[in-house]
Amino acid sequence: MSQGKRVGIVGAGNVGATVAYSLAMQGSCHEIILRDNKIDVARGKALDMSQAASAVRSHTVVKVAEEMSDLVDCDVVVITAGSPRLPGMSRDDLLIINANITKEVIQGVAKYSPNAIIIMVSNPLDAMTYVALKESGFDRSRVLGMAGILDSSRMAAFIQEKLGYGGGQIRASVMGGHGDDMVPLPRYSTVAGVPLSDVLSNDEIEEIVDRTRHGGAEIVGHLKTGSAYYAPAKSTAIMVDAILKDTKQIHPCAVFLEGEYGYNDVVCGVPVMIGANGAEKIIEITLNDAEKEMFANSCSSVKELIDTLNKNEFFKGE
Ligand code: LAC
Repeated sequence: MSQGKRVGIVGAGNVGATVAYSLAMQGSCHEIILRDNKIDVARGKALDMSQAASAVRSHTVVKVAEEMSDLVDCDVVVITAGSPRLPGMSRDDLLIINANITKEVIQGVAKYSPNAIIIMVSNPLDAMTYVALKESGFDRSRVLGMAGILDSSRMAAFIQEKLGYGGGQIRASVMGGHGDDMVPLPRYSTVAGVPLSDVLSNDEIEEIVDRTRHGGAEIVGHLKTGSAYYAPAKSTAIMVDAILKDTKQIHPCAVFLEGEYGYNDVVCGVPVMIGANGAEKIIEITLNDAEKEMFANSCSSVKELIDTLNKNEFFKGE
């Protein structure tokens, strides 16, 4: 057999299935294994996607894991399983429900794919990444959360919309947790290398920052029965690709901090170099006082969620 790469995806809902579809179309890996409690839905989607892969002459095969134990020897496992965020529901409302789902899934991943790199997508994202790290016992380099790429892409799209030009040339930067107090960084955002402040007024920049912070809710408001999935899925596929191709690209991702930016025992979004070994390097960029304060607020929001889990004795007895 070839040394084909295998990607497991837990949760074949809109986000999980779209990650699978994106990877299959890119031919990023040899095998994608979908796992979902709704096994027939997973079977149908896997067949459909394998046929789409054939249509574009991609070698990727999409299969179904009938049991968690079929999710074996994956190089990367993406976790999208969880209760979705419904209208009126904050990401934090999902905390306990999704922490329990994550715990169960991660125990399976650690058992059957012990060398995998885990990418968490379920919300609340940073807290779920923390749960995945603690439950897997993996090194922190092998547990990453997707969110910074998504939030930065949203900011870039809003900049493009405001400017009316610059598509594909905008580099937007967002750090912090994937919550309403995320930290968009206009100072580190450019249009073809031109600083944002040279092409937009302060008010316009503030408007973009605010819209970015609520970018997920804006889409929930339109869809009404669920949340965004094209951009979340594509952002996840970019991370999977960076790992499988060992690109060493820098992307904002949620990782466990051990002293970086002055924080410990918390997961938060920071620029990370991604390669075959996962989060290979955390980049510490210089923040001014206002940015530091926003990052501190964002970290404490994540810490509050972790504290809530601790108060509920979530991590006890392991
Ligand atoms: C979003 C939600 C799902 O940002 O976190 O789209």
